[in-house]
Amino acid sequence: MELNDYIASIPGFPREGIIFRDITPILASPKAMRHVTRKLADFIEDQNATLVLAPEARGFLFGLPAAVEADVAFAPVRKPGKLPRTVVEETYDLEYGTDTLQIHADAIQPGDRVVIVDDLLATGGTVQAIRHMAEKCGAEVVGTAFVVELDDLKGRDRLEDVPILSLVHYE
Ligand code: PRP
Ligand code: ADE
Repeated sequence: MELNDYIASIPGFPREGIIFRDITPILASPKAMRHVTRKLADFIEDQNATLVLAPEARGFLFGLPAAVEADVAFAPVRKPGKLPRTVVEETYDLEYGTDTLQIHADAIQPGDRVVIVDDLLATGGTVQAIRHMAEKCGAEVVGTAFVVELDDLKGRDRLEDVPILSLVHYE
């Protein structure tokens, strides 16, 4: 499966200087979606994970199916004001702009082995914020998995020794 064929590149979106890597053609293809889900699930299983965390909105699209396929719990990472119970929270930088994310505090148990799934690794700010929240709750992040990695933004360097799966690389 040539996954590159299912990613559209849009220069100048959402602003000048950014090449947006659009994963919606993967969603449109059950074959591509099954391929991605299986790859992510294999990684989750290999890391002996007990919990998958994924951020809204695009992380949900891959994190939940992969967690179900790997038979592991899933918890959503959300933008502020969406989760009804006590949350842990972290503010972080994006390739463009800043944001805050929250997780239900009781979704993560001390000792959980967490794999973070997202559609794309850029600067690594999002995944670092999720990692900090997981660690505040006493969990260990044992892996991070992405459909797309933007190599030039060096998000990988911020993840230090955490294993990383990326299915497609762009400069
Ligand atoms: C995008 C993408 C990743 C993040 C990657 O999400 O889906 O979550 O940016 O960037 P980083 O590695 O520099 O943190 P975005 O915040 O645009 O939200 P969306 O999924 O709701 O579109
Ligand atoms: N999130 C951060 N940078 C991005 C990019 N270049 N394409 C798609 N999503 C992104």
